[in-house]
Amino acid sequence: MSVVSCRDVTRSFGDLAAVDGVSLSVEQNEVVGIIGPNGAGKTTLLNCLEGLDVPTSGSIDVLGFCPVKDAHVLAQRVGVQLQHAALLPRLKVGEALELFSSFYARPMPWRPLLETLGIAAKEKSYVAKLSGGERQRVFIALALIHDPELLFLDELTTSLDPQARLAMWEVVRDIRRRGKTVVLTTHYMEEAEALCDRVAIINQGRLVALDTVRGLISAHGGDSTLRLTLDRPTPPTLTSVEGVSSVNSDNAVTIIRGRGAFAQNVLSHLTQAGAVVTDMTMSSPGMEEVFLNLTGRTMREAP
Ligand SMILES: Nc1ncnc2c1ncn2[C@@H]1O[C@H](COP(=O)(O)OP(=O)(O)O)[C@@H](O)[C@H]1O
Ligand SMILES: [Mg+2]
Repeated sequence: MSVVSCRDVTRSFGDLAAVDGVSLSVEQNEVVGIIGPNGAGKTTLLNCLEGLDVPTSGSIDVLGFCPVKDAHVLAQRVGVQLQHAALLPRLKVGEALELFSSFYARPMPWRPLLETLGIAAKEKSYVAKLSGGERQRVFIALALIHDPELLFLDELTTSLDPQARLAMWEVVRDIRRRGKTVVLTTHYMEEAEALCDRVAIINQGRLVALDTVRGLISAHGGDSTLRLTLDRPTPPTLTSVEGVSSVNSDNAVTIIRGRGAFAQNVLSHLTQAGAVVTDMTMSSPGMEEVFLNLTGRTMREAP
């Protein structure tokens, strides 16, 4: 049985289908990323999975329960990262963790959790006095306090500096190593590449692709680029090498685009022709290219 199963879910606000017919499943111990530009519908979808919002149509199962009707059962087993919490700023970090611990039958000891998240020194600080990144880490600690088997994280690293972001990635990896399941949203492609077993790309409320990063890149990433400097003019025969889709010369550099094993084929072709490669770089498409090829826009251009 899937940990999360969502079938044909639509959530409309008036005329706007913020989530538009999304179906997806998340299996045990997977980290699944929902990625898309601002306004794509990520938070709306996550709110529905968390039971904080109700789909206009479609159905959702979480750990075999309905997120709305069975909210009290799921609260013990699911962790949700708060976005804002009205009460918390008036508490000290330690007090907030103590309060949340009291909600659960078997809370984790929270001091080690603060250590892991790098905010142990903030135990006696008011939540209101923390930086954005520190407050975000408090919210993560609160989401983890009952050691949930399923964790929902919305824009986990958005206001964090690069160092805190890497630390947060380690936290997610550790959660995964402990056998848990994570559904996260992000608008950072590199975050999806670094953390997720599978990535759901959503654009304007619609799921446009769902696969491993490797699968998405190989299906939708397009060509890789090989840049070579040769000891002679570019041999015209390169265009017919298997996998090569284009060959261009720019000053002394030969730029070859292609797919599959084209780079290896090009190099052995050049070796046979007696050409010497004096410099070489290769760049492969990433999730940015996948998004561009699937939606016709870059993540930044998208509304
Ligand atoms: N409560 C709401 N009422 C009206 N429109 C909303 C509401 N919540 C979200 N939207 C709209 O739905 C779309 C998707 O928003 P959201 O799910 O927050 O996107 P994301 O999290 O991907 O940035 C946006 O156009 C947003 O303005
Ligand atoms: Mg959002």
